[in-house]
Amino acid sequence: MRIVVLTGAGISAESGVPTFRDADGLWEGHRVEDVATPEAFERDPRTVQRFYDERRRAVAAVRPNPAHVALAELERRLGDDLVVVTQNIDDLHEQAGSTRVVHMHGRLDTALCETCGARTPVDRDLADDAGCPACGTASLRPDVVWFGEMPYDLDRIDLELAACDRFVAIGTSGAVYPAAGFVLTAAGFGARTLELNLVESEVSLLFDEVRHGLASMLVPAWVDEILAEVG
Ligand code: APR
Repeated sequence: MRIVVLTGAGISAESGVPTFRDADGLWEGHRVEDVATPEAFERDPRTVQRFYDERRRAVAAVRPNPAHVALAELERRLGDDLVVVTQNIDDLHEQAGSTRVVHMHGRLDTALCETCGARTPVDRDLADDAGCPACGTASLRPDVVWFGEMPYDLDRIDLELAACDRFVAIGTSGAVYPAAGFVLTAAGFGARTLELNLVESEVSLLFDEVRHGLASMLVPAWVDEILAEVG
């Protein structure tokens, strides 16, 4: 049984990582347009760097919750038959033990050099030092996909969606494409689709089954069902 799991901010909410659209529409006090766009970075790089430096420090202080742990356990059983496509830029899936994770919106723990294209692990505030170790220019930016930029690994994601038997979306509002449309792609190739989310999402109607509740409760229960099914 091949499974694709799509995760969003809701899976990290119980670890203490703020979601994007549950609050008053602000992202930790910032309008998304003010920080998560290439134009914002062009206009005011220091503000954007500081914003991601703050998020990087905040994420360094949080730990995986039972939902992340259950998905890592499922990978130990299914191996290459499971892939987690995450919209999240935290590393909580990896901290929980998942290794087959595709960060389609990038990740906070690496930086991208705008000059030479090298990716390097981030171990400091980029607002203070954006020096690229590969080419020496001060051109490091957060390795995060901003609005208007192309998400990463879409070819690989499409192949996984075409090959999977089950597609499960966890903790995502279905507000942002292309991720919000993955359920249709998977269903079009015959996969059974399930949404695990706190409340109705913008795409709930597209799923074969929807379960509402906390990810920390729904995901371990669903993993137990799959483990029983595969034996
Ligand atoms: N358990 C399950 N679901 C939860 C929980 C929880 N504990 N807490 C919140 N949720 C749900 C919310 O109800 C909401 O539907 O998680 C969803 C989070 O939605 P968003 O905040 O929109 O986050 P996400 O779907 O990941 O956003 C997608 O938008 O801003 C961009 O690039 C950013 O990757 C992000 C993308």
